[in-house]
Amino acid sequence: MKITDLFSVEGYGVVVTGGASGLGLGFAEALAENGASVTLLDIDGAAIDAEVARLTDAGFDVRGTVVDVTDHAGLDAAIDEAVEIHGRLDVAFANAGIDSGPGFVSGWAGATRPRNPEGAIEQYGNERWQRVIDINLTGVFATIRSAARHMRPRGSGRIIVTTSLAALKNEAVIGSAYMAAKAGAAHLMRNAALELAADGITVNAIAPGFFVTNIGGGHATAPAVQQAVAKDIPMHRVGFPDDAKGLALFLASPASAYVTGQQIVIDGGWGLGVAD
Ligand SMILES: NC(=O)c1ccc[n+]([C@@H]2O[C@H](COP(=O)([O-])OP(=O)(O)OC[C@H]3O[C@@H](n4cnc5c(N)ncnc54)[C@H](O)[C@@H]3O)[C@@H](O)[C@H]2O)c1
Repeated sequence: MKITDLFSVEGYGVVVTGGASGLGLGFAEALAENGASVTLLDIDGAAIDAEVARLTDAGFDVRGTVVDVTDHAGLDAAIDEAVEIHGRLDVAFANAGIDSGPGFVSGWAGATRPRNPEGAIEQYGNERWQRVIDINLTGVFATIRSAARHMRPRGSGRIIVTTSLAALKNEAVIGSAYMAAKAGAAHLMRNAALELAADGITVNAIAPGFFVTNIGGGHATAPAVQQAVAKDIPMHRVGFPDDAKGLALFLASPASAYVTGQQIVIDGGWGLGVAD
């Protein structure tokens, strides 16, 4: 056998929450470009329409459904429909996530990072807290649950959660609900992996560092921000969704058959510490 055969996802049925932008779109592309049928599940209908049109024009089997991961009945229905259309569910990416608003310091990088009163714990409102938990943690739970309902009877499947370096290391510029949600999602991933291992289902997480996407209104697209953050990253550059495609394909494919319950950090060394 050629080792590259282990990375084949040809004919797979795939769903990606938050699949119409950023990292989720990159995961969808990685799978679709390698022969999978992919459904983008996203709250942003215009982005779904644009990306489905672009990817189908390029010859890939990609469709989309507008759904909010906090609407659990809607999410179940959208995943059920995707499975019916694709004929199977091999891979589910629980990826949808939002920024949490300001943290208790005001800048990503720099010698001085002034405290930000708006992000202080005393000012952190219930509504902001709950919205982040509902999407970034409970949304992951609902996606894993829905996927497991299809995968357990088949005795196979791959569930891949997008957590964050924030699940392992606190970042003061990001609001505190994000830290709690991502750490919770990581431990939930491990618990699901423990439960589903005997049924041939692997559950793992991709933990990105700083990636240029549309999260938080697209603050990461500003070149000045990228340059400032890149100084703190040992590889001296920020990440782009293309950087995470290989890891997504590995975790989705037979190549990772004996890997479960793992959170793989992809961050150019950012979490290791400061090298310069
Ligand atoms: N960009 C980074 O640096 C970074 C770092 C670590 C982790 N992450 C995580 O990566 C994941 C993807 O984020 P991204 O950076 O690609 O951002 P993004 O904003 O580019 O993409 C997120 C997508 O999720 C969708 N979405 C948001 N709320 C939703 C909901 N309630 N239901 C369904 N879809 C919803 C958005 O419409 C968007 O298309 C998130 O879980 C995020 O926390 C991002």
